[in-house]
Amino acid sequence: MVKVGEIIKLRKTCKHFRIRSIPDPVLNEILDAGRRAPSSGNLQNWRFVVVDDEDKRKELADACLNQRWIAKAPIHIVICSDIRQVKRWYGRKGEFYSVQNTAAAIENMIIAATGLGVSSAWIGGFADNKVRRMLAIPDNIDIHAIIVFGYADRKIRGQPKHSIWDITYFNEWDNSQRRPLDQPAMETASKKTKRTVKKVKRVIKKTAKKLRKL
Ligand SMILES: Cc1cc2nc3c(=O)[nH]c(=O)nc-3n(C[C@H](O)[C@H](O)[C@H](O)COP(=O)(O)O)c2cc1C
Repeated sequence: MVKVGEIIKLRKTCKHFRIRSIPDPVLNEILDAGRRAPSSGNLQNWRFVVVDDEDKRKELADACLNQRWIAKAPIHIVICSDIRQVKRWYGRKGEFYSVQNTAAAIENMIIAATGLGVSSAWIGGFADNKVRRMLAIPDNIDIHAIIVFGYADRKIRGQPKHSIWDITYFNEWDNSQRRPLDQPAMETASKKTKRTVKKVKRVIKKTAKKLRKL
């Protein structure tokens, strides 16, 4: 059984995709992970528009401020939300909740995809009006993001991340005199983590091979 924590460490934004489609059962798993996310009042106000048509993907790449590389990813999922019910229930707070709900769905999808050997990129840079027009998305629907999925064609170098103690406070804001976690213990853990990451990669490779035969 692969640990979620290890899959989270494997996730990195991918900008180079192989020309290879994603099998329907894999896409189904990714969408299923999205719909299982938590949401305020369980309103599940997210809506997903899957774009697999090649011409449309190229058009979407243009609408994403000419980020042409995204067209190569075989699946684009345009993440939308219908905010009406959330606003009716929660008023102004509903606007925040709607964003949080969709972000939770996105992250679920990305992590599920990583576990299935599928890489992804979260795209926030796009022209709303162009995306809306080309996909016939109604005016009352918000467009939050476009997540592109596919198989990486090279090893992805990770981005640097802040350490836990740079971003975490205990009991009050900015109690910087306290070192929150035991650093040596974490360093010991990292060797084990490396071994597990290798194991996870092997499992992902095997799963991807099995899925290709479907
Ligand atoms: C809200 C949001 C919008 C983003 N928009 C873009 C984008 O338009 N183009 C892009 O190349 N990456 C985009 N990214 C990806 C970030 O650049 C990336 O997550 C960040 O550099 C950290 O790298 P990592 O995902 O490999 O950890 C976006 C990420 C988020 C969360």
